[in-house]
Amino acid sequence: MPDTPLIQLFPRSATLALEGLYLAHELRQLAGAQPFVYANFVASLDGRIAIPDTTKGGMKVPLNIANARDWRLFQELAIQADLIITTGRYLRDYAAGKAQEILRVYDDPRFADLKAWRAAQGLSPQPDLVVISSSLDFPVPDALTHGGRRVVVVTDGRADRRRVEELETQVGQVFVAGDDTVDGRRFVELMANRGYRIIYSAAGPKIAHMLLTGGVLDRLYLTQVSRVLGGEPFSSIIEGPLLEHAIDLPLRALYYDAPGDETPGQLFACYGKR
Ligand SMILES: NC(=O)c1ccc[n+]([C@@H]2O[C@H](COP(=O)([O-])OP(=O)(O)OC[C@H]3O[C@@H](n4cnc5c(N)ncnc54)[C@H](OP(=O)(O)O)[C@@H]3O)[C@@H](O)[C@H]2O)c1
Repeated sequence: MPDTPLIQLFPRSATLALEGLYLAHELRQLAGAQPFVYANFVASLDGRIAIPDTTKGGMKVPLNIANARDWRLFQELAIQADLIITTGRYLRDYAAGKAQEILRVYDDPRFADLKAWRAAQGLSPQPDLVVISSSLDFPVPDALTHGGRRVVVVTDGRADRRRVEELETQVGQVFVAGDDTVDGRRFVELMANRGYRIIYSAAGPKIAHMLLTGGVLDRLYLTQVSRVLGGEPFSSIIEGPLLEHAIDLPLRALYYDAPGDETPGQLFACYGKR
């Protein structure tokens, strides 16, 4: 990956290295009485974060916007977390061999510096994982509990009792945080009670909806690649019913990444009230 610097455009202009950019946001300092919750997406200029996977079925991140520089920043966000949110859908795709690897990324030599950073903070080698699922219809891959990581499953009142018991013997505790669907606020309260302070959503637009409607999403990190994709259907950063009250996420920081081998240029933006 070329070591081209970025231009910070807001809140002040500066030239900065890509590596260390989001580590410098020092997210671990931001939890107060409530946990600090943040999410991240890479999107095309026309707002697509996922498009149909024509070979394997389902949806996937468009290959022509995924890129190594954005992936580096994804890892810098992930490494700062106590807990990473993933979903039943992700684990189904993982089992079918069609999901991007988020479960064992800390074995990746490209991110050895991030592994060392985490050790220097006195943290466990990897953040724990929480799987959010109504259906509980997913297999549990070995990689999930790799390296002694704790796994928590959160579901809603519709969950099948027998499946809950099965999962409890396989991975650990299964919690209920909502009646028909998992509720963002109850979910975060539950995680806070278990001692999680820094929570990162690596999940998609339904989880973003759950966190936003629950009033618990503190920050949105959004990479916008200067490339138009078109096509339908597609997913954007949020999916679900119209929000009863629109939610404001003021811009906190904006960085310009010039055209390179993989992209025609991209903006790294950070939105949120704290
Ligand atoms: N471009 C990007 O940066 C980016 C980032 C993340 C994801 N994506 C893409 O977005 C697509 C969807 O991702 P995703 O499945 O991880 O996320 P998602 O659309 O947010 O969540 C989907 C699954 O999570 C569970 N779920 C979500 N909200 C729930 C709630 N309130 N209560 C109970 N269960 C809930 C359900 O699992 P069950 O069906 O098991 O009940 C549901 O099928 C994928 O194609 C992914 O690749 C793109």
